[in-house]
Amino acid sequence: MPSWSLLPQPAKLSPARSGAVDVASGAVMSVRGADREVHSIAERFVRRVADIDGLQLHLATTDVAHPAIAFEVDPHADIADEAGYRITVGNGGILVSARTPRGVFYGSVTLWQLLTPPGWTRGSPVKVADGVIEDHPRFAWRAVLLDSGRHYQSVADIEKLIDWMSLNKLNVLLWHLTEDQGWRLDITKYPELTRVGACRKAVGLDSELSGSADRPYCGFYTQAEARAIVRYAAERYVDVVPEIDLPGHSQAAIAAYPWLGVTGKRPSVWTDWGVSPWLLKPDQKTLRFVDDVLDEVMQLFPSRYISIGGDEADKQQWNASPEVHAQMQRQGLANMDQLQGWFMQQVAAHLVEHGRTPVGWDDELVAGAALPASQVVMSWHGDDGERVALAALQQGHDVVMTPQESLYFDHYQSELPDEGPGPAPAASLRQAYDTRLVPNGASASEAAHIIGVQAGLWTEQMIDFAHDQHALFPRLAALSELGWSAPGAHDWNDFLQRMPAELARYRALGIDYADSAFAPSFQIAAVEDGAFRIELSNQAGYGAMRYTTDGSAPTERSTPYAGPLTLPADTRLRVATFAPDGFELAAPRTQTLDDTGLLSRDGSALTTCSRQSGSRLDGAKPAQGPRPVYAVDIGNACWLWPQLPLDGIRHVAMTVERMTWRFGDEAKDAVARSKASAFGEFEIHADACNGPLLSRSSLPSAAQAKGQVRLEAKLTTPVGAGVHDLCIFATGDPRDGQWALAHMALSK
Ligand code: ACM
Repeated sequence: MPSWSLLPQPAKLSPARSGAVDVASGAVMSVRGADREVHSIAERFVRRVADIDGLQLHLATTDVAHPAIAFEVDPHADIADEAGYRITVGNGGILVSARTPRGVFYGSVTLWQLLTPPGWTRGSPVKVADGVIEDHPRFAWRAVLLDSGRHYQSVADIEKLIDWMSLNKLNVLLWHLTEDQGWRLDITKYPELTRVGACRKAVGLDSELSGSADRPYCGFYTQAEARAIVRYAAERYVDVVPEIDLPGHSQAAIAAYPWLGVTGKRPSVWTDWGVSPWLLKPDQKTLRFVDDVLDEVMQLFPSRYISIGGDEADKQQWNASPEVHAQMQRQGLANMDQLQGWFMQQVAAHLVEHGRTPVGWDDELVAGAALPASQVVMSWHGDDGERVALAALQQGHDVVMTPQESLYFDHYQSELPDEGPGPAPAASLRQAYDTRLVPNGASASEAAHIIGVQAGLWTEQMIDFAHDQHALFPRLAALSELGWSAPGAHDWNDFLQRMPAELARYRALGIDYADSAFAPSFQIAAVEDGAFRIELSNQAGYGAMRYTTDGSAPTERSTPYAGPLTLPADTRLRVATFAPDGFELAAPRTQTLDDTGLLSRDGSALTTCSRQSGSRLDGAKPAQGPRPVYAVDIGNACWLWPQLPLDGIRHVAMTVERMTWRFGDEAKDAVARSKASAFGEFEIHADACNGPLLSRSSLPSAAQAKGQVRLEAKLTTPVGAGVHDLCIFATGDPRDGQWALAHMALSK
């Protein structure tokens, strides 16, 4: 009996006891009625089934008697919600019905999932089990924020993302188009915004993207491109909500037009990350500029909603400006937060006059100031900051929940050595799935004003589309279920059981997803007779970890891990994770068991001296092999290796890399350590960071330190026998270059 594996979980599943419909190449499909929009949905559905499933459906041009698949719109059908649908499978056919074309579209997405069930293979006929699926969304706003400011994406890649979002029944792309690090939308009236504001000096890895450190990192979207993206999205029932971030995150705009700022100076477009101090001047001239920009934005984006940002507006420049103080007094305001409130109120009013609804961040609520009354609040403060969302609800705002970190998909998602880059702490698939959407203390009527859920893909560390995909998938599946499915359907174990089919769909679509939730992680210890004891685990605790010891890739028939293993030295242990149906959930990871392994560590496997999780930062692309990722406690290049048997250890080899400092306001917490030579050194101390010095290796100059640098040293002081803690650190000032520790190996 075939079963349904659908994601997001529909509102109501009523499987029949028996029976199924066979769908094979040549199956006839029809659209009831002459709705052109539904016809287009059907055409795209047929194309997807051909491209991905390898099945050629025949879309009839007229109504036919007994089609295998029919789509139908009936405005009067008893279907909950205008985006809802019903799929009826039985009597040899499948009927997708809805009150609107949008509903048919979501039905077609579910039907595509029915045609890609667990274990499906391309080109094979599919049996769809009989029954009825009735479905509609929980929230109207199911969004991904895409930051095109820090790093931009090609139009083709944004369209891919929109397509994939629509297959997860997501319907809002919050397009973050302006940043300190780049203004990315062409505005006809203000050409300098992109001529100047879309380019920044290529610092750090940006030089790889631009081609050289001498060539700036530049990019923006023309109005024609923005229109094309809007059109593409509309065909998939995705609204593109643009974000023009005000009055902070505006350094690039001020670089283009210094009169927009308060200092009279022209900053460069920012190359750092973090919160820039450059704010727009809150006066009438700036407001005219903002209105002009928004007038063009409204022309390009038909969305009801327009975001005006309002986050992270550090008031130091306003506080230092007599002109801004005078403005504050003229408006009869008590402080700079109220002045931001006044400024945003003017901007919001302009949108409202034009029939649009302003959207912005919750920051001013944190500061105790009011937001424009009409504004939808995106609440990101945070997983433990529900009070902010609650305050927004209690003040009568509609609220979109997007808590950092669980729905900030820029955060890395596991502690695996091969995990991608992102800020700390980790935000796992499960944390994303378990995101609390209704703040504690919200009444039912307040909770009714939560209109949606949103994941953020902030792109400081997302330098290419492969990084974007790794960060988004499969956490996007968790987002999809949060946004669409009824709260009563929330069930982590059930979600996991639907992941194999979903991951298989990702593969078929060519999505470069992360297997971090399922990948094996190794814990290794030496035991008697030179043997090793190995414990395996995976983050989700799901699937069978199957292993080989002969160097071959594990298959779904390899030995399943059932408990700690004891294996002889020099074994090459390879482990992959498989779902109960044999689907490979995680690619093989390999570990060789030898003394070298016990005496060596990746930097990411060490504890940082502050005991905070490090951010994971990309290194330079090496001539060969994958780009390395390092765990770095930004501003403090210091690691701890606890409890190491040091008997007879005489030698250390380290691989390190110098990262250009671009961490903005993290500079205030930077820990500088006195250096003994011009460019500093890596030191190893026993027992504590101020304990006996074991080795000191000089570092090369910034000019010579391109990519990974290998350091070798004898331990200058023979270490006493027994077990010691090690403290490893770089001397010098991290603001002159932040050292990352790739790998460290001790030997006898
Ligand atoms: C934000 O993360 N600054 C909204």
